[in-house]
Amino acid sequence: MAAPGSASRTVIIAGGRGAIGRALSRWLCDRGYTVVVLTRRPVHSNRSQIRYEQWDGQTPGQWISLLPAACALVNLTGKSLFTLWTKRTKQQIWDSRVRTTQLLATAVRQYAPSPFAFISASAIGYYGNLGERKCDEQCPPGDDFLARLCIAWEDAAMQAAERKDIRVVIPRIGIVLQPDAGFLHLLRRSYRYGLCAYPGDGRQWISWIHIQDLIRSIDAAITQPWNGVYNAVAPQPIRLHQLIATLAQHLHRCPGIPIPPALLRLLGETATLALSSQQIHPTRLQQWEFSFQFPDLATALQSLLS
Ligand SMILES: NC(=O)c1ccc[n+]([C@@H]2O[C@H](COP(=O)([O-])OP(=O)(O)OC[C@H]3O[C@@H](n4cnc5c(N)ncnc54)[C@H](OP(=O)(O)O)[C@@H]3O)[C@@H](O)[C@H]2O)c1
Repeated sequence: MAAPGSASRTVIIAGGRGAIGRALSRWLCDRGYTVVVLTRRPVHSNRSQIRYEQWDGQTPGQWISLLPAACALVNLTGKSLFTLWTKRTKQQIWDSRVRTTQLLATAVRQYAPSPFAFISASAIGYYGNLGERKCDEQCPPGDDFLARLCIAWEDAAMQAAERKDIRVVIPRIGIVLQPDAGFLHLLRRSYRYGLCAYPGDGRQWISWIHIQDLIRSIDAAITQPWNGVYNAVAPQPIRLHQLIATLAQHLHRCPGIPIPPALLRLLGETATLALSSQQIHPTRLQQWEFSFQFPDLATALQSLLS
């Protein structure tokens, strides 16, 4: 078993079987960490430094005994937002983030060694639909469902900071570009089926981040004396139609046609996900002198699609 606290090289990742968690686990292993993934469906690991532990995301259990031997807990849990938002699914989206984070923050407060880092995901949905306005971490929250969710999610994580020897770091994550999951994967798949369309007029701002830069920032949050929220986005947001055009060029496809917002609004509140415009700046990462490997979309796509 690893030594407790700061001497330990064990990181626990709740939700570590998801898209970001898988990439983070591999990255940390390659850097000599032992990773314990909390999952509702444990599987056999083919890497000796990654272990899967059962939990239900709702109640304290055996998993709590892992905390004293770890140096950090990364919280990446959350039901996917890519579903039709009904009263029931919105409650699941909420509980899988807010209640799970409350559980983790309470456990960390009670059982984490000193010092300890608690890195808990949030999203740029915090800022709501900004239209043409630019914004950084100083900006106030929006007031739609996603914004209210992010506020409650972050408040839950901050409960761990009641202990002064625990650093709580909250990446407000933008749209993560990775080859095998998420936004890019969805677009590539729709291209493959000949569905070349994008939501709205395409003028909405997209604040994105390359998976590797996100993972590097979380790694830094584990080891550097960072505290509080930061925007996990690349410094160059882009309009959706430009993103689509650049992607289409890489894939040798036509950029597609816009889907009228009126049609999307038939999906109800779910449409906010596709129509929101967010031009977000990573001011805090830049203050912390974080160097982006993929600051612009062309370089990012080059690496992701090659
Ligand atoms: N990817 C993005 O573009 C993006 C952008 C902004 C914010 N984020 C946030 O970052 C976090 C990770 O994103 P991701 O893309 O890696 O998501 P993902 O692939 O959907 O993985 C999420 C993980 O959450 C766990 N989970 C789902 N419902 C749960 C519940 N009720 N209780 C406990 N665990 C639950 C699942 O773990 P098991 O099934 O293994 O238990 C799953 O592996 C999420 O909170 C997401 O909202 C992601």
